[in-house]
Amino acid sequence: MEDATNILLQAADKLKQNYLAKITDVSLLEELNNIRVAVLGKHGELTLMLKQISNVAAADRSVFGQHINNIKNILQQAMLDAQNKLELASYEKTMREDSLDVTIPGTGSKVASSHPITQVTSLLLKIFKSYGFTEVIGSEVEDDFHNFTALNLPKSHPARAMHDTFYLESGDLLRTHTSPAQIHAMENHEPPLRIISTGKVYRCDDVDMTHSPMFHQIEGLVVSENASFVEMKALLDDFFTKFFEKKIEVRFRPSYFPFTEPSAEVDIRMSKNSAWLEIMGCGMVHPNVFNHVNINPDKFTGYAFGVGIDRLAMLKYGIKDLRMLFENDMDFLSQF
Ligand code: DAH
Repeated sequence: MEDATNILLQAADKLKQNYLAKITDVSLLEELNNIRVAVLGKHGELTLMLKQISNVAAADRSVFGQHINNIKNILQQAMLDAQNKLELASYEKTMREDSLDVTIPGTGSKVASSHPITQVTSLLLKIFKSYGFTEVIGSEVEDDFHNFTALNLPKSHPARAMHDTFYLESGDLLRTHTSPAQIHAMENHEPPLRIISTGKVYRCDDVDMTHSPMFHQIEGLVVSENASFVEMKALLDDFFTKFFEKKIEVRFRPSYFPFTEPSAEVDIRMSKNSAWLEIMGCGMVHPNVFNHVNINPDKFTGYAFGVGIDRLAMLKYGIKDLRMLFENDMDFLSQF
C-alpha cells in the first residue's frame, strides 16, 4: 500500500474517533442531525474523503473504499443508537411529567343551581297556581296609563310622588310596580279572573341594605261576582304558611293605596315574641280601576295584592342585606 493511501486511512480513522466521541456526547436530537450533515452530508467530511478515491493509487482503491464505507457504517450505527437513546429519554420524560396520579382525590365538579330569587319566584308561582291562579307575563316598559292612570293615580294625584320613576324619552317608563299586570289582564280577559304576575320593577332609589333601583314583585288579582275581603284574608293567611312552611302570624292593618278601597298592609311575624314585619299591600279593587277597564263595579268585585319577592327571599333564607341578592358572589350563591 502506498504511503499516501496510508496517510489518508489514518486521517479517516482519526475522523471516525472524533465523530464517535461527539456522537456519544450528544444530548439533543438536533445536534445529532448537525453531526450527520457534517460528516455524511453532501459536503460532509467523510463524503469528501471518499471523493479522494480518484487520487488513490489504483491498487489501493478497493481497500480504501471498503475502509471508508466501513467507517460510514460504524458512524451511522452509532448515530442510530444515539437517536434511539435520546428518543427513549424524551419519551420517558414526557411520561413522567404528563402522567396522572389517579390516586389523588378528585376536586369534583360544581353543580349549578337557580338564584334564590328564581327559586322563591318559582315557589310563589307554584303556590298560587295551586289556588287556581293563572300566570300572566307583564312588560318592564309600561305606559303612563297602565302604571298610573288606570290604577286610579291620575296625573295630579299626590300619591304619584310615592314612586320616583325612571322615565324613557318616549314618555314610557320602567314600571314602578307589577300592578299594571292587573290592568292588562282586565283589558284582555272577561271576569271572573284569577291572575298572578311576577317580575322586575324599578324605582329611583339609592342602593342600601334594604333598597335597590331594581327589585322584584309578585302581583295577584281576583275578580268575580263575590270576591271578598274575607276570602282574600283566608287566601293570604294560607299562602304565608305554605311559603314559610310553618304557621305564621298574619295581621291586616288599615292602609291606603289609590287602586284599592279598603286597603290594608299585611304584617307577619315568625314567632310570638318577634317583631311584626310589614310585608305586603292589598285591598279591594277600587271602582275607578274597574271603570278604566270597562268592568261593571256594580256586578263585580275584586281584590289585589302585591309583595316584594326580594323581601320574601330575605325572610325565608335569613338574608340581612338586599345587596347580597344582586352581587353574584359565588360563595353566597353556592349556598342555594
Ligand atoms: N303596587 C304596590 C306597591 O308597589 C303594592 C300593592 C299594594 C299592590 C296593594 C296591590 C295592592 O295589588 O292591592 O307598593
